[in-house]
Amino acid sequence: MKLALPWRAWSALLLLGPGCVAEEPAVAEPPAYAWQLPPGLPTPKVPADNPMSEAKVALGRRLFYDKRLSGNQKQACASCHQQARGFADELAVGVGSTGQKHVRGSMALANVGYAAALTWANPTVVSLEKQALVPLFGEAPVELGLAGQEQNLLQRLSADAAYPKLFASAFGSPTPTVQRLVQALASFERTLVAGNSPWHRYLRGEATAVDDAVKRGSKLFFSERLECFHCHSSSLFSDSVDWVGKLAPEMAFHNTGLYNLGGSGAYPAGNQGVYDVTGKASDVGRFKAPSLINIAVTAPYFHDGSAATLDAVIDHYAAGGRKQAEGPLAGDGTAHPNKSPFVRGFTLSPAERSDLLAFLNALTDQAFLTDPRFGDPFAGP
Ligand code: HEC
Ligand code: HEC
Repeated sequence: MKLALPWRAWSALLLLGPGCVAEEPAVAEPPAYAWQLPPGLPTPKVPADNPMSEAKVALGRRLFYDKRLSGNQKQACASCHQQARGFADELAVGVGSTGQKHVRGSMALANVGYAAALTWANPTVVSLEKQALVPLFGEAPVELGLAGQEQNLLQRLSADAAYPKLFASAFGSPTPTVQRLVQALASFERTLVAGNSPWHRYLRGEATAVDDAVKRGSKLFFSERLECFHCHSSSLFSDSVDWVGKLAPEMAFHNTGLYNLGGSGAYPAGNQGVYDVTGKASDVGRFKAPSLINIAVTAPYFHDGSAATLDAVIDHYAAGGRKQAEGPLAGDGTAHPNKSPFVRGFTLSPAERSDLLAFLNALTDQAFLTDPRFGDPFAGP
């Protein structure tokens, strides 16, 4: 990589001649970060105290894949957020480094830099820097299991052959700190932008990127009959979004009628959506509408992985929610008092269902799933 040095620094180098540079030249203004965004996608917002840089992204990528970022060194972020699965995993709920189960499933990270609220149902987690602390140090549940082990972790990174140099180029100091670590992770996450699915390419004018089934399916998705687009809105397919130039962040949480235990209006304990944060009855069962980009590769679905396939998801919306006849989760979700008026049910012919599935499948950005910029830096050459 070329260094962009101010003229005075270059002239100092020239005057001193090679081999005579006593100290590092003055650091130039960092060049504006060159986002490699798919055409038509907005620029993600970046906190003022954590500007983007190539060096931070490179460091963040390494940290994201490094199993030394867990207490027992068995897990990395990437264990639960796998590129080939849209940076989600195949499990119904996350399983941490010590085997402890999360109550919710791992989430896809494509376009997470545009998310106005992070995780399934927490309006207070709004920055990627802050979110990263949860899997690292959280104890309920244990994910990476580093609570109380901050010093061990930082020493482990200091003793490594590569990290001090990477921290130095990212932060001007070779010393790892927890803040620098989450800043680098967040910088890497902000580069995870997907927007080259057949559907996106079709929207950009590539007429042959999708077939007629996909086009018919899109009409259903964007119809007042199915209502999907109200919550999975814009080309990001979520209504909790923000970006550079947007007047205000949008943040919304919806009850889609998944549960209604014994008709009491309750969701399973400890997993009641925004209610677990606010304690307000009107927030029971409210969750974020996740983006549907790459949805074909992130099964199982919903916050608790309770729908195994996209067919099962469509069954859920067609029925206007979920009725469970027996067992501990029995209850009529379709009658939940908080249920969104947009989840009221519909009937699809088999041909229409297959068109809707074709549309959902056309949201997969295959290049994103294999883009070497996002891959495991420890693997291969
Ligand atoms: C044990 C599996 C596991 C590990 C390890 C893990 N995550 Fe997650 N991740 C999850 C789960 C589960 C959720 C949903 C959490 C919730 O709703 O409370 C999640 C949610 C997220 C989200 C929110 C995405 C969105 O769309 O709102 C981000 C960002 C994220 N994780 C980043 C990370 C980073 C960075 C690391 C490493 C420091 C990491 N995760 C490690 C399981 C994991
Ligand atoms: C009222 C807002 C709303 C409407 C309308 C809506 N969704 Fe959703 N969608 C959500 C929310 C909220 C979730 C997460 C629910 C949960 O996990 O509890 C979700 C989850 C999903 C998921 C699973 C995502 C994942 O990562 O697990 C898919 C697929 C999906 N919706 C597709 C659709 C389709 C197709 C339609 C139209 C038939 C639709 N949605 C209509 C809000 C909505």
